[in-house]
Amino acid sequence: SDQSAFETDVWTLTRFVIETGRQAKGATGELTQLINAMLTAIKAISSAVRKAGLAHLHGLAGAVNVTGDDVKKLDVLSNDLVINMLQASYSTCCMVSEENKELIVTPKEKRGKYVVCFDPLDGSSNIDCLASIGTIFAIYKRDAAVVFPCCDVQISEGEPTDKDALQQGNNIVCAGYALYGSATLVALSTGAGVNFFTLDPAVGEFILTERSVKIKPKGKIYSLNEGYAKYFHPSINEYLKHKKYPEDGSSPYGARYVGSMVSDIHRTIAYGGIFMYPANEKSPKGKLRLLYECNPIAFIIEQAGGLATSGTQRILDVQPESLHQRVPFVVGSPDDVNEYLSFVKKFS
Ligand code: AHG
Ligand code: MN
Ligand code: MN
Ligand code: MN
Repeated sequence: SDQSAFETDVWTLTRFVIETGRQAKGATGELTQLINAMLTAIKAISSAVRKAGLAHLHGLAGAVNVTGDDVKKLDVLSNDLVINMLQASYSTCCMVSEENKELIVTPKEKRGKYVVCFDPLDGSSNIDCLASIGTIFAIYKRDAAVVFPCCDVQISEGEPTDKDALQQGNNIVCAGYALYGSATLVALSTGAGVNFFTLDPAVGEFILTERSVKIKPKGKIYSLNEGYAKYFHPSINEYLKHKKYPEDGSSPYGARYVGSMVSDIHRTIAYGGIFMYPANEKSPKGKLRLLYECNPIAFIIEQAGGLATSGTQRILDVQPESLHQRVPFVVGSPDDVNEYLSFVKKFS
């Protein structure tokens, strides 16, 4: 690869995951298998994304998914790739995908101990205009004690059910996103910080390019779709006014919004600032889905030293009630998120 022309001991993501796995007590290697299977799907999606225009993969698949999105051809292809690669890794018992209404139960003979919630292709409204898009995933252990409202702790066994996936983001074992941008990058965390890996297409390996990534305490960029301003809660518009016309003599913030969350989040981690997909009158819980968009991103943002809130509670504390539930989503540099929360307090 370009980097390894000079380095003969390069850290690939596969090597990094094996190393991490070996340090985990009682490791069976199953998580390593699972992550490597996800990486294979991501490499295949990256290749499909970059050939989409040539391979007639642009445009609609002609269906609408459970959350009302028009499904694109690449959504379907990406979804099939992730499901097939993960089930073939013998490490999952069930999965939740944006593109599947019901829980995806792994065939009995292929079951393992992990639950995966994933968005196979994020930002798919941007495919045909060639803006960056991504893939998002969160991995849980099935046998994480599933505490029911009656405070009865029940270890889940037998046929997987929705309850195995309706776990708080606090239980995440590993989460990551892939960004199909000017380069293909994977951001990954297993709970000990965030690392960035860049795909070297010459070798077909993800190479460690940034270790223990940390977000700035405060940024200078706000990122949201202001087209909904008419429908926002006053606290949002008051906060934005403060960013545009600061009364304290500080400089106004810049505005950046791609409309592909993975792109907007990756820029927020790389440069600092705040990303918001708040509730609005037309969608009282916002648009982003808790299990396969907000929880994985919240986990990564917190691992990078940032904050992730719904406006009323920490995202990772939200107890999911349904597979495709939405939640208002404000994440980024801690000082920026806390400043936003001060406006929530002031204008609620
Ligand atoms: P997806 O393509 O997986 O359905 O997700 C799209 C999401 C997210 O990527 C982005 O932040 C948001 O939709 C953009 O929504 P608006 O077009 O309403 O701003
Ligand atoms: Mn969608
Ligand atoms: Mn998405
Ligand atoms: Mn999607």
